[in-house]
Amino acid sequence: MAAPKNQAAWLKEAGEALEVSDAPLPTAGSGEIVVKNAAVAINPLDWHMQDSGVFIQQWPAVFGCDVAGEVFEVGHGVDRFKEGDRVIGHTVNLVSGRPQDGAYALYTVVPANKAAILPSSISFTDGVVVPFALEAAVCALSVKAPGPCMPGVLTPALGLPYPSIEPMPSTGKTLVVYGGSSSVGSMTTQIAIAAGINVIAISGAHNLELSKRCGAADTFDHKDPSLVEKVVAAVGTSHFVGIFDAISIPETYAHSLGILAKLGGGHLACVHPPPSDVPDNVQVGMIFAVNEIASPVWEDFVTPALRSGKLQCIPPSTIVGKGLDYVNEGLKRSKAGVSATKLVVEL
Ligand SMILES: NC(=O)c1ccc[n+]([C@@H]2O[C@H](COP(=O)([O-])OP(=O)(O)OC[C@H]3O[C@@H](n4cnc5c(N)ncnc54)[C@H](OP(=O)(O)O)[C@@H]3O)[C@@H](O)[C@H]2O)c1
Repeated sequence: MAAPKNQAAWLKEAGEALEVSDAPLPTAGSGEIVVKNAAVAINPLDWHMQDSGVFIQQWPAVFGCDVAGEVFEVGHGVDRFKEGDRVIGHTVNLVSGRPQDGAYALYTVVPANKAAILPSSISFTDGVVVPFALEAAVCALSVKAPGPCMPGVLTPALGLPYPSIEPMPSTGKTLVVYGGSSSVGSMTTQIAIAAGINVIAISGAHNLELSKRCGAADTFDHKDPSLVEKVVAAVGTSHFVGIFDAISIPETYAHSLGILAKLGGGHLACVHPPPSDVPDNVQVGMIFAVNEIASPVWEDFVTPALRSGKLQCIPPSTIVGKGLDYVNEGLKRSKAGVSATKLVVEL
């Protein structure tokens, strides 16, 4: 039987549209699987890469971080998957630079320790919202010691426990998630709740309910003029860990630092370079969402949690279209901004 043909959406030059054309059919190396993609998701990182070429190590480039599909090939040493399994996976072109590790293709290599079986009750277009956001969430919550993120910037180290599929007793700790309706914020809320952490989420007024569905105990509108005072009151006398700022722009930093000042300091974990001028009692860091720290969560938590509903595919997907040609449209829409949804291309 002839080998199947692969195609990818290639970026040939920064600032250009991706071009769909043939690509080598990847093979699974040791510890890897090849996924025949049924759905891929668009992340804000991707249009930054497209626009400026940032993080691209090899031209022409294939990037993208989220896939859902069927296992096509299993590499040496992988015993959690077999051909034909339905899976979701976090692809690692960001660190490897290899085109075969980019999501925007018909077939993609995924490290086995960044993949999980997708229960049959969940569609590929729903499940694909999970992978990159899940890894970002674990990096925000569970790293124990600051490590390198980018030159001059360390990762945050909140050292919180991993999520558990068993009911967790409350740790008595409270975390504020700023940007609770974003993809990374809604996943972080769910993962923190499953680790016994109390979450206060800050979202748009129209998305407070979504943060509640993720498990947040209290939710506040990011445009509320009394936001700082209300969050401080909600934290009350609980053990305040700090803030995960999943938006990380000047406006959110101003509010976050206001909250931290009133609560006596704590962690400020960011998704972009943190503010430089912070008081000594604030520990800042920027996550780097490709990290082996997430492996146990991929291996032990994701599948049973998706099956039981403890982990929900939130925010819901919006399907941009069917076929790799629609990745360009997805990138445009992501750059224009989304609210409480993840843009997905079906294949
Ligand atoms: N460093 C890393 O490793 C890493 C990893 C992943 C992502 N990121 C970065 O993290 C950010 C979030 O990514 P994402 O995929 O989660 O984004 P996203 O889902 O596309 O973000 C959209 C959400 O942002 C919310 N938002 C916008 N402005 C806000 C504000 N001022 N206050 C509160 N919420 C606000 C909107 O909330 P409402 O509609 O409710 O207002 C919307 O739901 C991006 O900048 C991304 O590049 C970094």
